[in-house]
Amino acid sequence: MENHNNYTICYFSDETVTLSEADMEALFDKSTSFNNAHNIYGIFLHIAGKYLQILEGDKAVIDPLYSRILEDSRHKNIYEVFNKKTDSLIFKEYNSKFSIIKTAEDLDDINRYLESNRYDSRCDKLARLLAPFMMFREV
Ligand SMILES: Cc1cc2nc3c(=O)[nH]c(=O)nc-3n(C[C@H](O)[C@H](O)[C@H](O)COP(=O)(O)O)c2cc1C
Repeated sequence: MENHNNYTICYFSDETVTLSEADMEALFDKSTSFNNAHNIYGIFLHIAGKYLQILEGDKAVIDPLYSRILEDSRHKNIYEVFNKKTDSLIFKEYNSKFSIIKTAEDLDDINRYLESNRYDSRCDKLARLLAPFMMFREV
């Protein structure tokens, strides 16, 4: 049934410390397991010292999570692109699980998906946001 309390939050931020590969994996694992267990959809990527994250789900679940994320000392300069009520979960349709964007292929896939849904203004905005990250896809 449609949930009338679904929200989409999107932000980007700067890393404060360069995490080791193991610490980065631990952060990705923690995020994936928590988010999947709580029906939170979206994407998480880390490229060139920046994080970009989209979280979608029930406000009652994503609000407290987002508060924890905002206080996390592993990043700073959090720039919120949007935080608003949504009728449809864009990322649930992309992938029924929370997605970590790790490879150039992952980034191409997400970009293609957003491009093909550009009639949805949120996807259009996200595609434009992702564009600078595409430059780093071969790094
Ligand atoms: C950029 C960034 C994004 C994060 N995204 C998530 C996330 O999507 N889900 C999650 O459970 N934790 C995420 N975290 C970790 C949380 O900030 C926090 O460490 C985690 O919720 C564990 O909190 P706890 O130690 O109080 O259990 C993220 C951290 C950072 C730095």
